[in-house]
Amino acid sequence: MRKKPVRVAVTGAAGQIGYALLFRIASGEMLGKDQPVILQLLEVPADGPQKALKGVMMELDDCAFPLLAGMQAHSDPAAAFRDADYALLVGSRPRGPGMERAELLAVNGAIFIAQGRALDAVASRDVKVLVVGNPANTNAYIAMKSAPGLPRKNFTAMLRLDHNRAVSQIAAKTGKAVADIEKLVVWGNHSPTMYADYRFATVHGESVARMIDDQEWNANVFLPTVGKRGAAIIEARGLSSAASAANAAIDHMRDWALGSNGKWVTMGVPSDGQYGIPGDTLFGFPVTCENGTYKIVEGLEIDAFSQERIRITLAELQGEQDGVKHLL
Ligand code: NAD
Ligand code: LMR
Repeated sequence: MRKKPVRVAVTGAAGQIGYALLFRIASGEMLGKDQPVILQLLEVPADGPQKALKGVMMELDDCAFPLLAGMQAHSDPAAAFRDADYALLVGSRPRGPGMERAELLAVNGAIFIAQGRALDAVASRDVKVLVVGNPANTNAYIAMKSAPGLPRKNFTAMLRLDHNRAVSQIAAKTGKAVADIEKLVVWGNHSPTMYADYRFATVHGESVARMIDDQEWNANVFLPTVGKRGAAIIEARGLSSAASAANAAIDHMRDWALGSNGKWVTMGVPSDGQYGIPGDTLFGFPVTCENGTYKIVEGLEIDAFSQERIRITLAELQGEQDGVKHLL
């Protein structure tokens, strides 16, 4: 028997990440090849984006996806989020060449207050929210704080792109297959201060840290490469990453909804005080996912180098949160 369709809201649906994302959701890559979806697409009311969104929907039609059970275009979050089971908050202003992420805070804060309130008012009480739009952790924090009627754990921020970038760099360094690298984590903020940590990583049970055994490479090559990858792509493309960001969003939601099969993945989730991160901070943690829920991996040893990295990324996040306090 066919499954009942679920409602997937996507904001910024006519943008470049939207274009790399919607077709994959509709083809079943996010929620499974047996799960029909209804796409509830949000764009700003201006004619240009709304017209572009119509064009994307024409293309979705032309794919004749068997799992696409319906789609709607909206300019009002309260309509787009109605009964949503999943919400991917992509729409926001992207960072251009030379622009600092902190500058985005003011512009994007207002968007995520309105969208948090709308989710609170009309979405499913179990809605799984992923914030992609930057600054992702703080935008997710704002949305969570603006939706007091929804469980805090429903709000997550995307660090999976950083996680995937780190996995790729480790695979290249060790000559091992991407698929065999386990137990990697990216702590903290989706920004250059993030701390990609391979101390616990293994390949078929063998320690990656022991394989690499080069702290100089870790501090001076690996961490800057992963941390500044977003800026490097903007520099090279003149646009921020899109296909890899959409891919990471699919990975994040798929693992959350369908389980990570015991594997660690990185998600930005509200802290409950783990590892000394103050409650509510939307922080990149190692998690495992099962039965539609995630669980932070606890009890990992944090050495002095890691403690300092975590302190730096936490301080940045707290600065961002302080910067939006007056908006909340
Ligand atoms: P884009 O400019 O191509 O598309 C964004 C779209 O969002 C536009 O069509 C715009 O009209 C729409 N939009 C703006 N405000 C909106 C609102 N209030 N409601 C609905 N739609 C709205 O940008 P993009 O390249 O698709 O990137 C989107 C966001 O994702 C940016 O903030 C970017 O920095 C961020 N990003 C995050 C990651 C990550 O790893 N977390 C990675 C890449 C990009
Ligand atoms: C990325 O990591 O590619 C994006 O967040 C873009 C950016 O602004 O760094």
